[in-house]
Amino acid sequence: MEIKPETGLTGLLEAFDSSHWPLVREAVEQTGGVLRQVELDAATHARIGSGLIRLVEHPKWEVRKALAHAALYLRHETFDRMLAVLGQDNHDLVRNAARRTLSRRSELSRTDLLKEQHGDLMLKWLQDLEERHGMQARNAVRKVAEKLQAQFIKELHHEMIKVISPLDASLEHIDAAIQGHRINRETLGRHARRAKERVKFLVAVLDSLYALTRERDLEFQTESLLSLMEEAVHLVRDRKPENAGLYAEFRIDPEITVEVNRHLLLQALTNIIQNSMEAYAGTQRAAEIAVAAIACNGARIQMTITDYGCGMSEEAVGDAFQLFATSKPHGTGFGLTMAKKIIESDHGGSVLLESAKGRGTKVIITLPREQEEREW
Ligand SMILES: Nc1ncnc2c1ncn2[C@@H]1O[C@H](COP(=O)(O)OP(=O)(O)OP(=O)(O)O)[C@@H](O)[C@H]1O
Ligand SMILES: [Mg+2]
Repeated sequence: MEIKPETGLTGLLEAFDSSHWPLVREAVEQTGGVLRQVELDAATHARIGSGLIRLVEHPKWEVRKALAHAALYLRHETFDRMLAVLGQDNHDLVRNAARRTLSRRSELSRTDLLKEQHGDLMLKWLQDLEERHGMQARNAVRKVAEKLQAQFIKELHHEMIKVISPLDASLEHIDAAIQGHRINRETLGRHARRAKERVKFLVAVLDSLYALTRERDLEFQTESLLSLMEEAVHLVRDRKPENAGLYAEFRIDPEITVEVNRHLLLQALTNIIQNSMEAYAGTQRAAEIAVAAIACNGARIQMTITDYGCGMSEEAVGDAFQLFATSKPHGTGFGLTMAKKIIESDHGGSVLLESAKGRGTKVIITLPREQEEREW
């Protein structure tokens, strides 16, 4: 006899009364898993607590030991009673398990406070969603959020390791040179500078990540689109000496205005124009971009930023807005992710790419002319 994976909590609690002790042990272990993985309400914790406490005197020590482990995430008054009894058990292994659970529990409670603050907020958002769109929507959103989180952690881990490994190698070189008394100031200096550059890069990545999480009330003001675009081009030219030669042709009616957060929109536009500039690296062509805008209807304007640089393959176009996607040796892959967040989430617009490898790229941006009250 065994417990099937699809057995619900009621089935698990019923199995506590089985006369076949391995089944009871398995049900207890699985209940511990449920407590750990699922966000349960207080009533369910109470149900589980009352079920588990009946087993503290179970004749088999194996069941009592499983109980001592399973209780770790239980949030019910029975926890203390259960652990008090198991801590006095006449079997060593049960007493040890109870001791371990108690000490892990105190570690957990230290980190819980912080988690609970975030948890409360998350719960409120989920409840809002459920009220507006039903339980299915709530669950779907939750699943997507969990998947995105897992994917993000994987990517971040990969990116961090990519920077940290060569940093570690530079430090190894420095250490070996010092240990071996083969101190060549020039080589040491080179490794130290490389290590510093990598630390700088790491800090830039972390700062950009932090900037992506920014959430605050934005202030919008009405701006001339032409002057915004001109300023963005100036900013890019001034950013680096190699950008000084950037030539831009503007086809924008000076009468077109748009309501934006000036600082943020400039950040998005300069990221996009910087990419256009960089698209000329390795080509023999002079860096030239065309910036145009039309009012597509009363409410929205569309603008395009076109370059005639290296262009992108279809696959690269698909990846370009992904965080960390970069084809450049010193790129972070944040530029377009940030631009998309600013244009789409902060301004209610849209941004997309059209590109042909070897021929150039057109970035198409639409923006609402006015920022009405937007729901999230
Ligand atoms: N105008 C363009 N022409 C050709 N490729 C582009 C263009 N814009 C973006 N890309 C491609 O998309 C990738 C992602 O761009 P993004 O701006 O997000 O990052 P990055 O430029 O590589 O790094 P960062 O902006 O952080 O310095 C680039 O590495 C490049 O391969
Ligand atoms: Mg970029």
